[in-house]
Amino acid sequence: MFDRNGGHGRGLDAERPEPAGARSQEHNPMSSANGTQADPAASLPKPEGLEGVVAAATALSHVFGEEGRLVYRGYDIHELAGKAGFEEVAYLLWHGRLPNGAELDDLRQRLGANRALPESVLATLRALPGDAEPMDALRTGVSALGAAEHGLFDATPDLDEAIAVTARVPSILAAFFRLRRGEEPVPPRPELNTAQSYLYQLFGREPEPRHWRPLEVYLVLLADHGMNASTFTARVIASTQSDLCSAITGAVGALKGPLHGGAPSKVLDMLNEIGSVANVEPWLTRALDGGERLMGFGHRVYKAEDPRAEILRGMAEEASDPAFFALSKTTEERALAMLEERKPGRRLYTNVEFYSAAVLAAVGLPGDMFTPTFAVARTVGWTAHVLEQMANNRLIRPQSEFVGPTDKHFAAIEAR
Ligand code: ACO
Repeated sequence: MFDRNGGHGRGLDAERPEPAGARSQEHNPMSSANGTQADPAASLPKPEGLEGVVAAATALSHVFGEEGRLVYRGYDIHELAGKAGFEEVAYLLWHGRLPNGAELDDLRQRLGANRALPESVLATLRALPGDAEPMDALRTGVSALGAAEHGLFDATPDLDEAIAVTARVPSILAAFFRLRRGEEPVPPRPELNTAQSYLYQLFGREPEPRHWRPLEVYLVLLADHGMNASTFTARVIASTQSDLCSAITGAVGALKGPLHGGAPSKVLDMLNEIGSVANVEPWLTRALDGGERLMGFGHRVYKAEDPRAEILRGMAEEASDPAFFALSKTTEERALAMLEERKPGRRLYTNVEFYSAAVLAAVGLPGDMFTPTFAVARTVGWTAHVLEQMANNRLIRPQSEFVGPTDKHFAAIEAR
């Protein structure tokens, strides 16, 4: 593992100099008051939110933040979006190269054959309240899968397991989606590709090309993204030699938060609240005056436009209702200008979530299925990262700087 100064410490345990820009903690409670020895952790770098810390070496994907560029296994995302199918990209991420025709057919068959859910997972989903959030249902469903199929998911994660969990994630979501509407889950049709099968299992009817094709491009765009929070979570869990379902369960939990994958439904809420082009300026002014964050803007790594946002903007223009697209576009333009005025130098641009909302709504999905659909795509990235972690594993175990007292004495309960 490498820090941005070029130092490396596998498992995040290296003692290294403070990186430029890292927040410094000068106070060291371990060193003075009680005369104990200085805590070596106090002199380690501690950038807030681990910004600038390189937590793993990966050949899977990389975000070139200054250039606004995303690369999967050597291919710029523009090379793949709209050209490669989701299964081709899954193969690319798992194997490091694009498949030939026979290899792609084989992967499609294996995914198709793995979509059915064990009865106990369906029973677990049936037991959830109908108003549970789909991301909570997914987290529960993946966890139940690990328990139901512990024979499959018990050993060191491998490609068979990656395929199995990638195939079952959309089935879990579709089953819960139907159960909460009082409908029975639809058995999968193995001949359908992932985008088709997901829509078929959700709505129980033949998916239309105008829906599954944009969904497939969306799945390609969201399949992997460097060391994002949920991927890091998956790698940390895998590094303990836990099982793949545990790693994916944790990753789903990390993805759920609005600072990561939970933003697109909030983008839709924002646009619905704004309601009209005339209300854009007053709404944004009120939100920013109130200290709110505008969902769908800003990114830890991109200091230029997220290339996925650019592609999704074009798709949204084609696929969504013209009035809704006009509202989105005006909101985006005013938000960018106002963020630049109020946060000069922060370089806040449109991120992937902003136009994901318009594209996924046009595909026919309700807002609370946006983040779960992100998870359908990212399961490929999570599993690929877990396999990469296991190929050269060392426990990921960083340190903390202790900032509490160390010299208290125990008092019996009646004396407190
Ligand atoms: N709206 C308003 N202000 C913002 C926004 C935003 N969307 N994003 C960042 N800022 C401001 C912060 O208030 C901060 O200002 P300050 O320096 O005056 O305090 C500055 O920009 C830097 O923000 P940080 O929080 O330090 O940036 P960080 O890298 O930690 O966070 C994040 C990145 C979480 C994505 C942030 O930009 C954000 O909250 N965006 C809105 C939520 C969102 O769109 N999430 C989806 C992210 S994409 C994904 O994960 C798939």
